[in-house]
Amino acid sequence: MPVPAQASTSLASQRSYLRIAGGRRLHGELQVSGAKNSALVLMAACLLSRDTIRLRNVPPLTDITGMGDMLSSLGGSVHREGDSLVLNGADIHSSTAPYGLVNSLRASFFCIGPLLARTGMAKVPLPGGCQIGTRPVVEHVKGLKAMGAQVTIEHGVVTAVVPGRGQRLSGARMHLDCPSVGATETLMMAAALADGESVIDNAAQEPEVIDLAGLLIAMGARIRGAGTPTITIEGVERLHGADYAVIPDRIEAGTLLLAAAITRSCLRVTPVIPEHLGAVLTKLEEAGCRIEHDGTGLTLSAERIQGVDLRTQPFPGFPTDLQAPFLSLLATAEGSSMVCENIFENRLQHVAELQRMGASIRTQGNTAFIEGVARLSGAPVQGTDLRASAAMVLAGLAADGLTDVFGLEYLDRGYAGLEDKLTAVGAWIERIDAMALENEAPTLSIAA
Ligand code: UD1
Repeated sequence: MPVPAQASTSLASQRSYLRIAGGRRLHGELQVSGAKNSALVLMAACLLSRDTIRLRNVPPLTDITGMGDMLSSLGGSVHREGDSLVLNGADIHSSTAPYGLVNSLRASFFCIGPLLARTGMAKVPLPGGCQIGTRPVVEHVKGLKAMGAQVTIEHGVVTAVVPGRGQRLSGARMHLDCPSVGATETLMMAAALADGESVIDNAAQEPEVIDLAGLLIAMGARIRGAGTPTITIEGVERLHGADYAVIPDRIEAGTLLLAAAITRSCLRVTPVIPEHLGAVLTKLEEAGCRIEHDGTGLTLSAERIQGVDLRTQPFPGFPTDLQAPFLSLLATAEGSSMVCENIFENRLQHVAELQRMGASIRTQGNTAFIEGVARLSGAPVQGTDLRASAAMVLAGLAADGLTDVFGLEYLDRGYAGLEDKLTAVGAWIERIDAMALENEAPTLSIAA
């Protein structure tokens, strides 16, 4: 297929990007990696024990490396063996998380719960906001206080201390004002080593919360109700080592299914736990996709896509993390769609980039109104956050001509080898090192 060369942009001189030649049908099978959001919190949970924890099915992502750096900075040891991480927290020598690591990886704030429960003290910088919203940690702090911690926030650092020498946190009843995933996980980890019973009401029900409970139970914790709005944790004296496999990444699986839908192709995606994607599969079917479940995987085939309306909600509602990728699909659908983002206040930045590719989208507050177009047209676009970057890749797969997707520092945080996976099923994607390009001034050619 001849593809015209495209002039480099000023952005191209700054960093690498993905060049996608769109319009190809995809076929075959795609493997889903372990869940990033599970793996990150499971890694933090290893601080709760002096024994070795083996986590299997951990994806090779920059966020995982960042969390490993955080655990190492506290005195933990982290080794990769194939797709496993072997972690040991016997020699934790610090209760202070470095600002630079929390600043570059919000999830490293997860350390506050286990550090406090294990050592009686934690000093962790406030993670601050990010591209998609302010992302407060009020619920985390409120719950730790309810368990008896003295918490102060000064100079941008949260300091939490269990008063009294050698004292433990005390079990408590906690009600979350919103079902925050991070707060639920933080409080579950803290409560696992607390004295007595804790109850978290209005808890998040996301699969990653259930996965955390699975690891903690494997380590000897007593937890009931994970996956429901009320989680009960009976604190134990100590937690031991475990060997535990991370669940498949439901957001990556959803993104790969959307790759089939947006290219009007047929792909099998495996492994998938369909219950983790209930609201997403319903919307894909409503849009006209056919989906078959064969025990370990899902096969999606699509010919025509109709517009649908969707609203992001806490699990089991439609996940905010698939809003941007789904919006790319709807930009190519027949008829009109409406997408309402209810979780994060600033998570429609990809709309402006899709408009640059010819999408017809109008926003009003947290809602996008979409009129599907027959074809998107390739353009240089910026991924403004992790899932927005994936949305740009999907749009590029469907667009006429070349799409250059910048913002790979986001994409690489959450998708393990996305371009390799998609290339193996027929996509044309090349990662281009903009710096090398400038030095070498090569001629790009694409095989027919
Ligand atoms: C996690 C996921 C992220 C996903 C999000 C929502 C990880 C590492 N990240 O983020 O990919 O998009 O869940 O599914 O697992 N909130 C408050 N007060 C608080 C805490 C949260 O008002 O104290 C609000 C937030 O502003 C947001 C909503 O609750 O509007 C959801 O946030 P939360 O569930 O905490 O998301 P994270 O755990 O940060």
